[in-house]
Amino acid sequence: MAVDREWWQEAVVYQIYAQSFNDSDGDGVGDLPGITAKVDYLDELGVDVVWLTPVYDSPLADNGYDIRDYRSIHGDYGTMEDWERLRDALHARDLRLVMDLVVNHTSDEHEWFERSRRREGKYEDYYYWREEPPNDWESLWGDSAWTYDEERGEYYLHLFDVKQPDLNWRNPDVRADIYEMMRWWLEKGIDGFRMDVINLVGKPDPIPEDPDGPRWGGDHFATHETAHEFIREMDDEVLSEYDVMTVGETPRVSVDDARKFTTEDGLDMVFQFEHMHVDQHPEDPWARTEFDLREFKRIMSRWQTGLGQGWNSVYLGNHDQPRTVSRFGDDGEYRTESAKALATFLLTLGGTPFLYQGDEIGMTNVPFDTLDEHRDVWTHDEIEAALDTGRIDSFDEIADQVNYWSRDNARSPMQWTAAENAGFTAGEPWIKVNPNFPEINVAAARGDRDSVLYYYRDLIAVRAEHDAIIYGDYSQIAAENDDVFAYTRTLDGERVLVVIDFVGRAGRFALPDGVEREGLELLVANYGIADPDPTEIDLRPWEARVYHDE
Ligand code: GLC
Repeated sequence: MAVDREWWQEAVVYQIYAQSFNDSDGDGVGDLPGITAKVDYLDELGVDVVWLTPVYDSPLADNGYDIRDYRSIHGDYGTMEDWERLRDALHARDLRLVMDLVVNHTSDEHEWFERSRRREGKYEDYYYWREEPPNDWESLWGDSAWTYDEERGEYYLHLFDVKQPDLNWRNPDVRADIYEMMRWWLEKGIDGFRMDVINLVGKPDPIPEDPDGPRWGGDHFATHETAHEFIREMDDEVLSEYDVMTVGETPRVSVDDARKFTTEDGLDMVFQFEHMHVDQHPEDPWARTEFDLREFKRIMSRWQTGLGQGWNSVYLGNHDQPRTVSRFGDDGEYRTESAKALATFLLTLGGTPFLYQGDEIGMTNVPFDTLDEHRDVWTHDEIEAALDTGRIDSFDEIADQVNYWSRDNARSPMQWTAAENAGFTAGEPWIKVNPNFPEINVAAARGDRDSVLYYYRDLIAVRAEHDAIIYGDYSQIAAENDDVFAYTRTLDGERVLVVIDFVGRAGRFALPDGVEREGLELLVANYGIADPDPTEIDLRPWEARVYHDE
């Protein structure tokens, strides 16, 4: 079977959280020249695409997901010339650059909002304004989703922070302005967009009263049918003219909606969230439930097989989630083995893998000591709301849970060396450096052929060489096994078998009847292996093996 190839299907994406990657000028904040200085590192790792989180002008209420000017770069990160140099440095090494598109909302300091609050001409209806809040929706972070604006004398909707008013996508002028801005970036030679909470742009009309139901406003309509319409229009008007990659961040998306987005509406792929909820309490955002591997396998397998002709994305962490190895692996005794096991998983599933900065060296959650050490607006908003409503009496009551879930775990500076501040900055870092940097850092990983970093490099290379890993059919085996995640990927005559101890206690694993074992050869493993026969394996904690036959 001839495969229909797309570069973004074969790519491995590396996500850079700009504030925390590399600081070139000693102000404690990562910046664009800092990233440019590390392009060789990315090239060596073997990734193909960089997704850069927002570096646009912004008051940084939500670390740049609150954009004040879509067409300029925030001074902390450098200048537009710095951005162009980064683009060129990436392109010179055949790496592509994907920008974050944040258009469900702007900053309240964006010119559109300022003009809207003054009811200026066409801007009057650029946002959701109401004389009275039509419902009691909350923002994602716990306070009311409707805030009164003195100047306009009305309430506006914000599904996120009070400084992130939601744009009114029903207004064609809003959409036209957004499309023009997208074209502007595309003409600057970018290679795609990661689209922030893009399934929230379609909202019901009128905004419903919804007296009952979930607390977060977004839960009342994600994914609304107009989200499909608007994204299809965006594709017709803009994206279809360019050979770029698009990935929509789509909270609460169902497999059916994801299939529609990726087969009918023009998105290349979406980020689904079901596997991110597997250990999260449905009502209490800070409570952690026990990880249930069978449930996790069901979810991942449904997404592997449910998209029809649509394409999948795969991720285990990003700037909004705890560190991958602390969450799904073991960040203590088996940190290295489990980080490699998770790498094996990320890079052998169907769909484009998204690797988050630092995961390639097995960076862990941060031991935060006080609330003050947290920088994230979400953490502070949630805690304030919980204190206000009497849900908690003090932060200490939920400190452990907050420290576990905090998005700042993933936002601590990239650990480059064992030198001061992990080699991230010569100044005072904007956020706490994980104190484990003397052991866990890129320089140490480079000096150790058995490191997580080398394993990623090897696996990324293996992935690129095997079409079955990229395009093969997925089939889960041993679905009832509580400890092992195992599957095959098959394309024409080629077959890849993956066996991973996903909980660190597997023991003996017997390949189920019906799985042909003849001809399977070991391709990659995270432990030294004396007996490569896959028929009966005595799996060591977090052992991962990839076999192959042709
Ligand atoms: C997305 C971003 C997150 C941000 C939110 C609001 O979920 O990934 O960081 O806070 O949207 O823009």
